[in-house]
Amino acid sequence: MIELGINIDHVATVRQARRTFEPDPVIAAALAEQGGADGITFHLREDRRHIQDRDVELLMQTVTVKKNLEFGCVDEIVEIACKAQPTWALLVPESREEVTTEGGLDVAADQGSIAAAIGKLKKRDILVGLFIDPDLHQVEAAAKLGADAVELHTGPYALAKRDSLTCELARLSDAGRVTSSLGMRLHAGHGLNYNNVRPVAAIPNMIELNIGHSIVSRALMVGMREAVAEMRRILDVCSP
Ligand code: PXP
Repeated sequence: MIELGINIDHVATVRQARRTFEPDPVIAAALAEQGGADGITFHLREDRRHIQDRDVELLMQTVTVKKNLEFGCVDEIVEIACKAQPTWALLVPESREEVTTEGGLDVAADQGSIAAAIGKLKKRDILVGLFIDPDLHQVEAAAKLGADAVELHTGPYALAKRDSLTCELARLSDAGRVTSSLGMRLHAGHGLNYNNVRPVAAIPNMIELNIGHSIVSRALMVGMREAVAEMRRILDVCSP
């Protein structure tokens, strides 16, 4: 069965729009668990635009499923992650100008800082995933650095129009095949929704999908528990 990670940053984004106390991503995480989430993902950005340090502390105390802390490779946040000790650390590229994570890590080009972060996190028994584009060189570079998982960037697939859709899906499948053949767990995420998730969930060896925006958007209409349960039902019938 495909594992479903729910990204709750978008709940914190609504709260930060007013710099107030609601909606609370900690409560959203608890409801997502009740809806069938296998993991909760939260991105502590350097500019703290959505998730705050307080959220990380409380989520670490209250989430009972896998805790997946996402962050850029900067010393300050790596130190926070080492102290927090989530189940997973997901390293992503980060720039202040972007609206959301825009592309995968360039693992080959940034080997030094990524390897140093992986070393520190693994000393704390934290599993490490790297968010990369579905590019075979990046997959190989991730394996060389000892990543436990790669999360393939599904953004271009999600944006693809009819003619390029097959090509984007093939890139994900190829990168997925190499990921598992190199002994890493295969995860994917970004831009997935109730309509486009099925072909990605059906990629052989897919283990985990991380989904945020579409589920949080749906939660506004039907509630968090039901929005997660709807995605859970889709994944239950289309696992590879
Ligand atoms: N994976 C990563 C690395 C992300 O940065 C995001 C965006 O928050 C997601 C998955 C989830 O993407 P979306 O919110 O588009 O579902």
